[in-house]
Amino acid sequence: MNRVHGLHLIVLTSLCCVALSAGEGDRRSVLWRGGSIAVEDAADSVLVSPSGNFSCGFYKVATNAYTLAVWFTASADATVAWTANRDTPVNGVGSRAELRKDGSLVLQDYDGRVVWSTNTSGTPADRAQLLDTGNLVVSDAAGNRLWQSFDWPTDTLLPEQPVTRYRQLVSAEARGSPYSGYYKFYFDSSNILNLMYDGPEISSNYWPDPFKKWWDNNRTAFNSSRHGSFDRRGVFTASDQLQFNASDMGDGGVMRRLTLDYDGNLRLYSLDAAAGRWHVTWVAVQRQCDVHGLCGRYGICTYSQGPTCSCPDGYVPHDASDWSKGCRRTFDVRCGEDVAFAEMRHTDYWGFDLNYTAGISFDTCRRLCLVDCRCEAFGYRQGTGECYPKISLWNGRVMSIPYQTIYLKFPTGAKNLNPSLLHFDGHTCTMDERDATVSSSYLHGRRNTINFIYFYSFLAVVFVVEAIFVVVGYLFVFRADSVAAGRVGDEGYSLVFSHFRRFTYDELSDATCGFRDEIAKGGTGSVYKGVLEDGRSIAVKRLDEMTQADEVFRSELSVIGRINHMNLVRIWGFCSEHPHRLLVSEFVENGSLDRALFDGDDGEDNTGVVLPWRSRYKIAVGVAKALAYLHHECLEWIVHCDVKPENILLDGDFEPKVTDFGLVKLLSRDAGSHMALSRVQGTRGYIAPECWTVGRSINGKADVYSFGVVLLELVRGQRVCDWVAAAATADGAWNVQRLAAWLKEKLKCDDGELPAWLEELVDARLRGDFNHVQAAGLLELAVSCVDGEPSRRPSMSTVVHKLISLDTIEHHLYATHELAANAAVVSLVGDVGGHQLRLPC
Ligand SMILES: *[C@@H]1O[C@H](CO)[C@@H](O)[C@H](O)[C@H]1NC(C)=O
Ligand SMILES: *[C@@H]1O[C@H](CO)[C@@H](O)[C@H](O)[C@H]1NC(C)=O
Ligand SMILES: *[C@@H]1O[C@H](CO)[C@@H](O)[C@H](O)[C@H]1NC(C)=O
Ligand SMILES: *[C@@H]1O[C@H](CO)[C@@H](O)[C@H](O)[C@H]1NC(C)=O
Ligand SMILES: *[C@@H]1O[C@H](CO)[C@@H](O)[C@H](O)[C@H]1NC(C)=O
Ligand SMILES: *[C@@H]1O[C@H](CO)[C@@H](O)[C@H](O)[C@H]1NC(C)=O
Repeated sequence: MNRVHGLHLIVLTSLCCVALSAGEGDRRSVLWRGGSIAVEDAADSVLVSPSGNFSCGFYKVATNAYTLAVWFTASADATVAWTANRDTPVNGVGSRAELRKDGSLVLQDYDGRVVWSTNTSGTPADRAQLLDTGNLVVSDAAGNRLWQSFDWPTDTLLPEQPVTRYRQLVSAEARGSPYSGYYKFYFDSSNILNLMYDGPEISSNYWPDPFKKWWDNNRTAFNSSRHGSFDRRGVFTASDQLQFNASDMGDGGVMRRLTLDYDGNLRLYSLDAAAGRWHVTWVAVQRQCDVHGLCGRYGICTYSQGPTCSCPDGYVPHDASDWSKGCRRTFDVRCGEDVAFAEMRHTDYWGFDLNYTAGISFDTCRRLCLVDCRCEAFGYRQGTGECYPKISLWNGRVMSIPYQTIYLKFPTGAKNLNPSLLHFDGHTCTMDERDATVSSSYLHGRRNTINFIYFYSFLAVVFVVEAIFVVVGYLFVFRADSVAAGRVGDEGYSLVFSHFRRFTYDELSDATCGFRDEIAKGGTGSVYKGVLEDGRSIAVKRLDEMTQADEVFRSELSVIGRINHMNLVRIWGFCSEHPHRLLVSEFVENGSLDRALFDGDDGEDNTGVVLPWRSRYKIAVGVAKALAYLHHECLEWIVHCDVKPENILLDGDFEPKVTDFGLVKLLSRDAGSHMALSRVQGTRGYIAPECWTVGRSINGKADVYSFGVVLLELVRGQRVCDWVAAAATADGAWNVQRLAAWLKEKLKCDDGELPAWLEELVDARLRGDFNHVQAAGLLELAVSCVDGEPSRRPSMSTVVHKLISLDTIEHHLYATHELAANAAVVSLVGDVGGHQLRLPC
């Protein structure tokens, strides 16, 4: 490792001399106008900050390749804090940095070509100065800053140097390389500080935890000032509420840097000035394998003496010197060929799911992948029956989840494969969780061999530690449980909130006659009807898949329990007695919207009452209000994530009540199933397209999309997927976007009367008994809600305004059926709330 170059030795030696003669003031921190630094006599012409802690000058990055850089004087390997020309190093002979007479600080190569400039020509720049903070500043005679290096960070932040909307960190390409790599530390469009792998083939965010919502990551998206920095004490704060402290926090004159390392991890370092070495005092990603893009396509990140990349059997490294290029197959999988699957336990490839289904059998999942030529492998979880057919295999890593297995597709003809089990037998994942210590370990060597002695002795230690943990943990949990149970016995039940209480399992079992009357079965659990002793009817939902700690469950529920809105189902309480988790809510008489709206559709239930237009409109308004409340008013800003007719219940007056809100949040806290939920949340047909795209952040606009689909269904009286499928048979492939585009065209028409297409489109069972201005309004709204681009969708509060304005019109004009009145409607609509709605006249 030849990182201490002759140059730096010279530099350091000269600096030592400088330090010895510090009192004499002969070192230079200022480059005056007209002055220059030549690459040849770099040692003499280095700029040094007044306290001597930083140096600036030519920095050797390779034989005959130099950059203009600022580095830490006291660090043994002269760690670079900033580079001017990271992607265009200059020649070792004839290159110079000059503060030109025209005011710009430029770096020119041996041939006079300017490779970098501060672009301050034409300003009265007087000097370039290296400050004690490590900031290189170009200023005028009065000291006004015209340019500063702090505004152009590379991969490192220094104390008080901010990351902002315009300034991001980009990692180096490899250890010791000056070139820009693929990792970024930046504020995303929702104001959250993120780490992203932005590679040539894929890009995805991996920190904060992409499986979680921003609120679960303790961030906020509501502060758009986008500013983050750390101070000399090692306390980092940002506008998205990211907050962390160095482990050696305090103002002891320690030099610090926050660097986005070439391995994609963000680390805070402190310098041990005596030894010249850096210590990691904070790290963003605890488990290095959680960083994306490390091992490339097909590669799998494991831990041996540090994170290590490997290829599955039958695959070989693409470029053994650069694991980010991943692995390639030694065989071909041709479509239509006989294929089989090889099993790789305890592994996962993050993202690139074709789709996601839960609760299906292994064979069904296998068949899904078998019949689809695009499917390269599938992930399956025993127990939950979660199935992830994969279209591409990236971000592979060993998992601590024991029942997660990847099945790789390969042709039955491939001889060199061990079909039952590939390469990994899962032992490695025991280490997974425990490689979490803050250490400066880099990707050692990136080998694909394992040091077995080290490995198994480590494993042994881990097992002993784990055994102790399990015993202690068991005693603890057991005791905690009996204490809780004791309390339940004493008080009957513990009150969490007024009207919101804890129930015992026996109590609920009695109330539901032993869970006999199942009224619904959803993705999140079955629902049973019951009656409490005080006569209230209840619906009890079993959430048996939830395994998180009782306190977490309870605190989550305390949020849900506090929510009170006439269009949201009221939660009355819960039960948490191992292994049972139940949610108790009010019983809503008229069942769910899907039954009211779609039943009888297929002719088997023709006696069913058709939901009249008036009710449909009321339902649209109620649901919109409920979602707007969750998104905008409710303290916790909840995204529902599963809006669909099944989750819209109807009370005696056909007033809608949305149910299952907050469950996604509850479930995504749960280690076991959170991945499933955040990969693809909700129900097929109602999911916004961004939920299918890896790395896109999901916000309330996903609910707006689902709401748009529900609006279409309210008007049509048919599932949108059936509608789209019916359209498809006539004219190629259709999807919701295409349907929306078609509707948009139709809505543009402006021939006076009730258009024939609209009459045909609206649910035939209404027999024409609907308000066509409202129907067109709903369609127009639905079209804007299902826009493929989330930012173009209206917010839920805008949707409510629009719906209410259309409703007001109805009160005045409904049933007049006069063209004149409808003409008036158009202008009226234009006025209400400033929301222009284009209507068929
Ligand atoms: C100077 O201007 C050039 C060309 O517009 C630009 O590429 C470069 O990033 C600028 N450099 C600085 C330091 O502003
Ligand atoms: C968020 O903060 C809470 C309370 O301080 C803490 O328990 C939890 O671990 C934090 N979550 C994350 C993802 O940091
Ligand atoms: C936004 O963040 C900045 C910087 O952290 C802070 O000064 C400001 O008070 C925050 N604004 C709000 C509304 O929280
Ligand atoms: C960091 O230190 C500050 C005190 O300077 C304290 O208020 C804050 O809670 C600490 N944050 C963390 C995450 O420990
Ligand atoms: C420079 O380093 C010394 C010792 O490492 C430290 O005491 C001093 O505070 C540092 N000065 C600045 C401006 O960081
Ligand atoms: C998932 O994708 C497969 C292959 O494209 C398809 O056959 C299957 O119907 C899809 N499943 C769901 C639930 O959408």
